[in-house]
Amino acid sequence: MQEEKFTLKNGKVVTIRRLRATDYEAARDFIRQFSTESIFTHQYPGQPDIDRKKSEELYEREDNCFIGAFENGDRLVSIANFRIDRPNHPWAGRNCGFGISTLEEYCSQGLGTHLMYLLEKEARAKNMHRIYGSVRALNRRAIALYLKCGFQIDGLFKETAFINGEWHDEYHISKILEK
Ligand SMILES: CC(C)(COP(=O)(O)OP(=O)(O)OC[C@H]1O[C@@H](n2cnc3c(N)ncnc32)[C@H](O)[C@@H]1OP(=O)(O)O)[C@@H](O)C(=O)NCCC(=O)NCCS
Repeated sequence: MQEEKFTLKNGKVVTIRRLRATDYEAARDFIRQFSTESIFTHQYPGQPDIDRKKSEELYEREDNCFIGAFENGDRLVSIANFRIDRPNHPWAGRNCGFGISTLEEYCSQGLGTHLMYLLEKEARAKNMHRIYGSVRALNRRAIALYLKCGFQIDGLFKETAFINGEWHDEYHISKILEK
């Protein structure tokens, strides 16, 4: 994908491009902040920093797609990604799992909608047939986004996470890309 500028609803402009190995520090700083802001992903406050070598490999692998939105060219404010489950598998090689994480000050500004569009575009370019994810049942904003983008809810997984003294359910969602 080409690097591009995207204007948020509040008029701010972010730069969107593929993440590279050299973005390790930006991604580490992003995750440090993001993990304290949201209970809606697997990141949690106080978790160890991501491993440099692993994340560099993750960003550069051809069968992964990591897209970042940057403020002022260098501060990461959102990461959207998908990974192909079994790239060379003859039957199951066209499924990919996605995720999006955005700093709270950049949420509800239209960025998630655009990143979802870009993820789908890249997934289609990689000949993916199905894109899927999971979302906590309490995460109304994310569910609204995914339904708006044409995802369907495949099922409810009960009590998959215990957060702040409560069990949380999770929906599994997916979209067939060729329809
Ligand atoms: C979930 C997330 C990716 C959505 O991205 P975003 O940039 O905030 O989303 P957008 O602004 O493009 O769109 C959000 C939509 O949800 C709607 N929405 C916002 N809050 C809502 C709520 N509480 N209930 C229902 N709908 C809501 C908005 O109106 C908007 O729809 P519209 O464009 O038709 O008006 C982003 O908020 C995020 O990263 N949040 C923190 C981490 C997270 O939850 N990640 C997803 C894990 S599955």
